[in-house]
Amino acid sequence: MFDYRVPALTRRAFLTSAAAVSAGAMLPLQPTTYAADIRQFRLRAGLGRAQIAPEPHGDTPIWCYDGSLPGPEIRIRQGERLRVAVENKLDEETTVHWHGLRVPNAMDGVPHLTQAPIAPGETFAYEFDAVDAGTFWYHPHHRSFEQVGRGLYGPLIVEEADPVRVDREVTWVLSDWRLTKTAEMREDFGNRHDMMHNGRVGNTVTINGRVPDVFQVRKGERIRLRLINAANARIFGLDFGSHEPVVIALDGQPVDPHAPESGLVVLGPAMRADVILDMTAAAGSRVSVIDRFYEDLEFRLVDLAYDDNPLRQKAPDWPVALPPNPLPEPDLASAGRHEVTFNGGMMGAMVMQEMGGSMGDMGKDPSDQMGGMMGMGGMMNMTHSGGIWFINGVAAEGHIMDPMLTLARDKSHVIAMTNATAWHHPIHLHGHSFRVISRNGKRTRYREWQDTVLMSPRERLEIALVADNAGDWMFHCHILEHQAAGMMGVFRVA
Ligand code: C2O
Ligand code: CU
Repeated sequence: MFDYRVPALTRRAFLTSAAAVSAGAMLPLQPTTYAADIRQFRLRAGLGRAQIAPEPHGDTPIWCYDGSLPGPEIRIRQGERLRVAVENKLDEETTVHWHGLRVPNAMDGVPHLTQAPIAPGETFAYEFDAVDAGTFWYHPHHRSFEQVGRGLYGPLIVEEADPVRVDREVTWVLSDWRLTKTAEMREDFGNRHDMMHNGRVGNTVTINGRVPDVFQVRKGERIRLRLINAANARIFGLDFGSHEPVVIALDGQPVDPHAPESGLVVLGPAMRADVILDMTAAAGSRVSVIDRFYEDLEFRLVDLAYDDNPLRQKAPDWPVALPPNPLPEPDLASAGRHEVTFNGGMMGAMVMQEMGGSMGDMGKDPSDQMGGMMGMGGMMNMTHSGGIWFINGVAAEGHIMDPMLTLARDKSHVIAMTNATAWHHPIHLHGHSFRVISRNGKRTRYREWQDTVLMSPRERLEIALVADNAGDWMFHCHILEHQAAGMMGVFRVA
């Protein structure tokens, strides 16, 4: 019998029938009204079913928006105002966070911090201007490790007034699932092992909510591929084979067009990349897209299947650079400096000790040392606190907390972050995009704007931003089990 699953981290090759790749439940979302630059939508969070594993497996019970997986693609133009009425048909509270969008604090969707959670049966209307063009997504911020993990997420695309020319735009929402042999959801959400290690990594990887087989393309075609990693914990590192992807935006924000480092498009949870993909292989051929992020666990994500008829013989030479978004440029000379240290998890104390010797400038700030010590203390006492992960020595419990940092409003800030753990962490700041300016003391080549930055074990990096959005903003790891186990804090911009 057919096995769609990936034991451990990888996925076995699978066979599938043509029927299994026929259209899923992706319904285009129609605006209910279109009036004077306000675009209105409704989203209903509720129970559903989706054909995640290929037939002959049955469908899987999920939680989702509007009965579809992923949720409907919300697509608007830069500068438009968006209004989304979110109706909660779940049996528990929820909220919606507009990941990466620079919205007013009250529209940020963080339960208790920016709004009361939406109770079952109730509706909450979010409304904000789409300041930046780019590839974004939406998801709950209440018990995300389970609500997102069961399928509550969707893409949100803000189009440039003047987009780059392509033949086709495609959105791939990547995710994974932990399914049983009969394609039921494994119910072990938020278990302690996942929380202490690398989170809920699934055994079934999907594109737009289903295990893919082939993706049809034509020779000579130029595609703008919008990649969104909606997984709880899985990091993707996509190898497009003989193709030469050009990254033109990261986390929605334009970047100097470039080939991805080491050839892999790497996406931690919540991260996005816009990639220009010229279809340069032979008509009638097939090229596999391979995920190579985890060593020795590579697997075939999907095959690009070339039509027999080319669209054109050579790739077009249209320009690929995107127009910039209106982001304030941080002034490094006058910037305030802040230190943030992450610790905890399995082997956390060990890494802290090991890094202690090499974290020279951390030693100058006694509060960081404290953070480290408290982190280790917390490790030892974790049965009492429940905390497993710590930021500057504190493990968050729920969204109600005092700010860990206050950033002077409209001023530039550099935040130096140290990952004193043995694990990767995609670190996300709400309400702002920041430039990643250095990694391990080395200036980054593209000084890319991000809202979620992937930190390797033991890595030190610096980000810079102008804190121009007033309010209390979440700062957390987007491995949702890490977030739930303490790895979050609040930055106050005032
Ligand atoms: Cu995408 Cu605080 O989250
Ligand atoms: Cu993490």
